[in-house]
Amino acid sequence: MSFEFDVITLFPEMFDAITKYGVTGRAWERQIYGLHTWNPRDFTNNNHRTVDDRPYGGGPGMVMMAGPLEEAIVAARTKQITYGIDKTKVIYLSPQGQLLDHKMVVELSQLSGLIILSGRYEGVDERLITRQIDEEISIGDYVLSGGELAAMVLIDSMVRRMPNVLGDPESANQDSFVSNLLDYPHYTRPEVYQGDSVPEELVSGDHVKINRWRLQQALGRTWLRRPDLFALRTECKMTIEEKELLREFKETYETKQNDVK
Ligand SMILES: C[S@@+](CC[C@H](N)C(=O)[O-])C[C@H]1O[C@@H](n2cnc3c(N)ncnc32)[C@H](O)[C@@H]1O
Repeated sequence: MSFEFDVITLFPEMFDAITKYGVTGRAWERQIYGLHTWNPRDFTNNNHRTVDDRPYGGGPGMVMMAGPLEEAIVAARTKQITYGIDKTKVIYLSPQGQLLDHKMVVELSQLSGLIILSGRYEGVDERLITRQIDEEISIGDYVLSGGELAAMVLIDSMVRRMPNVLGDPESANQDSFVSNLLDYPHYTRPEVYQGDSVPEELVSGDHVKINRWRLQQALGRTWLRRPDLFALRTECKMTIEEKELLREFKETYETKQNDVK
């Protein structure tokens, strides 16, 4: 049984970006996950298929009405039950939700399906959120015009971690954030580009040396760019080798900084 995403959206075609291209497109073709869209306009009972109305209390913009959204969510739930999906959640993508991070992606991947609501306009009627939504998730402290891109960010980050999606299963485990570290720098041919050479460790053919260099770069980059992640890593206790690699990295970095001055 594949993981089932059921997305409530006014713009179903946007999800072609996920199902037709790249890693997520190939995984979709191989039926590693299912993605079905539900348009709230199909759950209206007026000639104009209206799904939004003016806000009570006045103010700018329109608000998505609870009725069509609730019916779409109920239809998606019924479908998931028919498919035997027992562990599922209803997520509303919202700038007011909890910030999406790697830990959350891993936790959501333990489920067997998700129903994802993409908002539009000023957002959705609060009573719909109270009645139907299990979790609100934000993809960052900025406001998008709609929840579709945010839903695709969530789906992509989950799909690339699913078994047999990436050519090399180790790839996803080496990505940034997996061990509270950023990824190490990558290089490909040519060996010398505009006078700039690939680090000698990477062309040494010595795998112990290569792995040591990569770990050191990952530790060093995290220390420089994301000290917040680095603090989490320190809490998980660094090995003696990691401490030594980081000490060496800091020493080289500080020497270079002093040379520049
Ligand atoms: C224009 S926004 C509404 C913003 C809302 N008035 C507010 O200030 O919180 C329309 C829809 O885009 C989606 N959206 C916007 N920014 C988002 C973000 N940072 N993360 C997730 N979804 C977002 C939500 O689904 C939202 O209902």
